[in-house]
Amino acid sequence: MEVIAAVKNRRAVKSFDPHHKMSEETRRLLWETSILAPSAYNIQHWRIVDVRDSAQRAAIREVAWGQAQVTDASALYVLCADLNAWQEEPQRYWATAPQPVQDFLLPKLDAYYRGKPVVARDEAMRTLGILGMTLMLVAQDLGYDSCPMDGFDFDAVAKIIRLPDDFAIGYMLAIGKGTGSLWPRNREPVEKRMHIDHF
Ligand SMILES: Cc1cc2nc3c(=O)[nH]c(=O)nc-3n(C[C@H](O)[C@H](O)[C@H](O)COP(=O)(O)O)c2cc1C
Repeated sequence: MEVIAAVKNRRAVKSFDPHHKMSEETRRLLWETSILAPSAYNIQHWRIVDVRDSAQRAAIREVAWGQAQVTDASALYVLCADLNAWQEEPQRYWATAPQPVQDFLLPKLDAYYRGKPVVARDEAMRTLGILGMTLMLVAQDLGYDSCPMDGFDFDAVAKIIRLPDDFAIGYMLAIGKGTGSLWPRNREPVEKRMHIDHF
């Protein structure tokens, strides 16, 4: 039930208390819990830029439609994907699995990604989506609010955070203490969006 409550209480918050500071202990708990999220082939494609410098936050806000969450949230994370993580010593991702599992999966992993940059990118983005949702729910449990964001100029943010080649930005996540009120939720009924067995 606690998970259901966290899901129900989460909203994409637009205004945060700019004075609230998140403790280092809370940041660590948030991260160490959230990286238990699943990732394709356990590759853990994520690389996260925790933007703490206020001038850098202001620069990002300028290329993010002026959205206040960027400067006012207690934490601003740029969730990035290492598009080559699949070929960076992949045996370490399966080091705790039994040898027959490793022998079966590692060649499969290689064949899945080699020469298929679109597949590699799709997998990384799927993984970032799940990581972000996990972060938002853990944040909720820790008494924080959040906002996932892709309303920004990706190239400009890439420059600001010095994104290396072969990395891609998924989206940003603002986490902090929400202030003010939000308009009511808006969801289409489940029946309009679900199909049984086929379209
Ligand atoms: C990939 C993605 C990008 C989003 N980008 C923004 C954004 O740039 N700014 C913003 O205020 N909300 C952003 N949102 C939040 C959505 O607008 C919000 O989730 C949706 O309107 C439903 O509202 P709720 O999350 O409060 O239920 C984004 C959500 C997702 C999943």
